[in-house]
Amino acid sequence: MQEVMKIEGGHMLEGEVTISGAKNATVALIPAAVLSNGPVTIVGIPQIADVDSLSAILRLLDVEVIEVASDHLIIDPSHMVNKDLDDDIVTKLRASYYFMGALLGKYGRVRMKMPGGCYLGPRPIDLHLKGFEALGAKVSYEKGCYTIVADKLVGNKIFLDIASVGATINIMMAAVYAEGRTTIENAAKEPEIIDVATLLNKMGARIRGAGTNVITIDGVRYLNGCFHEIIPDRIEAGTFIIIAAAMAKHMVINNIIPQHLDALLSKLKDMGVKMKVEIDKVTIEQSDHLRGVDVTTKPYPGFATDLQQPLTALLTQAAGESKVTETIYIERFKHCLELQKMGADIELLNGSAIIKGPTALDGSRVYATDLRCGAAMVVAGLLADGVTEIRNVYHIDRGYSEIDKKLEKLGAKIWREYIPD
Ligand code: EPU
Repeated sequence: MQEVMKIEGGHMLEGEVTISGAKNATVALIPAAVLSNGPVTIVGIPQIADVDSLSAILRLLDVEVIEVASDHLIIDPSHMVNKDLDDDIVTKLRASYYFMGALLGKYGRVRMKMPGGCYLGPRPIDLHLKGFEALGAKVSYEKGCYTIVADKLVGNKIFLDIASVGATINIMMAAVYAEGRTTIENAAKEPEIIDVATLLNKMGARIRGAGTNVITIDGVRYLNGCFHEIIPDRIEAGTFIIIAAAMAKHMVINNIIPQHLDALLSKLKDMGVKMKVEIDKVTIEQSDHLRGVDVTTKPYPGFATDLQQPLTALLTQAAGESKVTETIYIERFKHCLELQKMGADIELLNGSAIIKGPTALDGSRVYATDLRCGAAMVVAGLLADGVTEIRNVYHIDRGYSEIDKKLEKLGAKIWREYIPD
């Protein structure tokens, strides 16, 4: 049997939704907590499958994980043991790679399987490994496992060829206990990086410049426990804003940091979406006419690649021609094939998609080929005539906290079923 999500489209949405803590911060904050020597309390944890997988990895390392409430974890690494991470759980998500930086930083040794995650085309981790090597580690790869060891980690100057989110965070974690100063140049500037640096600094680390393209880390000898609240998820917020632009009479999206969404909000304004942005929320009103726009994904503060997929579903409803160009993951277009099944007029080129609209969408059987493709299918399902059946729904559950419950409260007809394989 397999679980599917079904959506009966065409029902207008109305009401308020509150955004959960950021997935891509959470999946780094949990591994970062093991660098401490005492309990770390994190609140604002989203209810996503990636958190369950990371908690399972913590337990493999004898780290105590106490679930105080559904969004509140205490991670206590006081009795932690550094073991080989060769369990299959590691391959369930991309972010297990943050245990590389965290365990190398704390113990000078890590052995783990290759991390998994969404297939978006090739996703190398060469920059992470180059960073570890620059700090004095030796990296080897054998039978699907990485072994990274260092007698001593010493701060160094590291220039990233690409401003990689994962490499920036991983090197920060590996460097917190290193001797002397580490400088990461051409660092990624995503808000999630600032959140991780904030947690580490609360623990006693000395990280400066997170959120700019030069980060310095001065090594310390001891990190203690602390309390931390996760920033709101800008991609979940963006997804709900897109959903509102597609199908809401009136929707308030609460618990957002509007600056994190500037690139999306500016594109939606160009499309003719009616919105009111306030300090921590945005209100979207029904728009009678949407115009097509061109979008190119870029590292933060540019247009997020993770929002390109749900936006493409909305663009099928905009008048004229839109062009979506990917510069981060040039193969991240599987959602377009699914949208075509529903009747969308999309032409795929190398690294971009041309969408002509508006086109009516028909409820169909589609696949969440990856997490944000799943979000695009939800947007399309809400818009479509008839019932859409989304398969591989586990991809959606990896990254969206109770998306169906939140949509149901807004008036969507959305439910889950088990069907034969
Ligand atoms: N890259 C390399 N070598 C590396 C690392 C990255 O060539 O060692 C390339 C990648 O192939 C890609 C670009 O650099 O072309 C940027 O990748 P980055 O490392 O920034 O991505 P990531 O850390 O693997 C995170 C998010 C992704 C999000 C990207 C881009 C997490 C766990 N994942 O991935 O989120 O798309 O940044 O913003 O934080 C998602 O949430 O659906 C998702 C895929």
